[in-house]
Amino acid sequence: MATVYMGLGSNLGDRVANLKEGVSCLAPDVCVEVVSSLYETEPVGYTDQPWFLNAVVRATTVLSPQELLVHCQDVERGLGRQPSFRNAPRPLDIDILLYNDLVLDAPDLVIPHPRLHERAFALIPLNEIAPTLRHPRLGVTVADLLARLPPAAEQVRLYPDSRERCLMEAPGVSRHSLPLRSGSPQVKARYDRVAGRYDWGEAPMEWLAFGRWRRRLWDLVGASPGQRVLEVGVGTGKNMAFYPPGCQVTAIDLSPRMLAKARERTSRGRAAGRPPLQVELALMDAERLALADAAFDTVVATFVFCSVADPVAGLRELGRVCRAGGRILLLEHMRSRGRVLGWLMDRADPLVYRWGTGAHINRRTLDNVRKAGLHIDQVTSLAPTGLVRLIVARQG
Ligand SMILES: C[S@@+](CC[C@H](N)C(=O)[O-])C[C@H]1O[C@@H](n2cnc3c(N)ncnc32)[C@H](O)[C@@H]1O
Repeated sequence: MATVYMGLGSNLGDRVANLKEGVSCLAPDVCVEVVSSLYETEPVGYTDQPWFLNAVVRATTVLSPQELLVHCQDVERGLGRQPSFRNAPRPLDIDILLYNDLVLDAPDLVIPHPRLHERAFALIPLNEIAPTLRHPRLGVTVADLLARLPPAAEQVRLYPDSRERCLMEAPGVSRHSLPLRSGSPQVKARYDRVAGRYDWGEAPMEWLAFGRWRRRLWDLVGASPGQRVLEVGVGTGKNMAFYPPGCQVTAIDLSPRMLAKARERTSRGRAAGRPPLQVELALMDAERLALADAAFDTVVATFVFCSVADPVAGLRELGRVCRAGGRILLLEHMRSRGRVLGWLMDRADPLVYRWGTGAHINRRTLDNVRKAGLHIDQVTSLAPTGLVRLIVARQG
């Protein structure tokens, strides 16, 4: 996983909206973690054009530098950027400034950005979020580079009402996360680690039972056109095969790598000629959903609340975003209700947690659902001694 710094700029159309959309479209392959304030900047080079609005983001990504370049170009094109001359006006421009401490001189990509050290509009926002970061080629910190800029550099001024993160907390933004809750970074790191082999590891259970149980859950969701469904902890997207036609699904996960796998699955489906899925993938912490209250008719999670660091906080969020009268459907493995097996699961949990994918085997999920203030309508035990249950709940 690489940490990257990227500069975003816009000087055509609704500049703030373009920057917000740009940040949003970078996910899930690029997980934006920090956004600088917005700065208004005098154009350089070709000066007969509107002022730019600029920001710098820090993000993590599993993409290689070349893949990241292609991804940024796709996002720019998606926002209507046409091929044109250098320094031309544009709805969105994304520059890769730094990629870990990589120094790269490829014909199509130079990292660090070759003009980073001479551009006030990149250095000022970068200095705001990473003043002590060292330029890997020049060996100097960002703060020092900024101090060395000649006074004749272009004019840059703070955009009115610009607060840090204003790009990430836009109304209706659902594609990137609010700051993670305290236990979540470890869970994220674990799932990032196992994402590549996750589907292989689960394949036997999927074939033996999980697929059948998923079908049962999604039959409950039903196909009512326009239904708004939230899938929490979508993982590699194994439920996608069951999404009812006509549903509008938002699918979130904490792990960028799991989400990247889910995205690959949607692309494979398109390539195989299957009808396109109405799904928006979003990088988000279930414990702190960047989603409006009562935004969904149905909320679904399968095998997720064994992993969520604070399951009660996560379940409470599910209740918040589900409309009154809507349903929360959970397919979860949990602590056995058998006394001996339950006791054994408690003893084995620390080992399984440590050496497995990061799931707990002894969660008391029914109790957690109640603690989160949800009302349980129905519980179906799918495996002996209640090891796996299908729970139908709603706002309490
Ligand atoms: C065992 S996997 C299940 C994936 C998928 N639901 C399935 O049925 O195959 C658990 C998933 O929950 C996600 N997860 C864990 N904690 C989360 C959180 N706080 N917010 C969002 N997703 C989370 C993990 O990243 C992982 O993808």
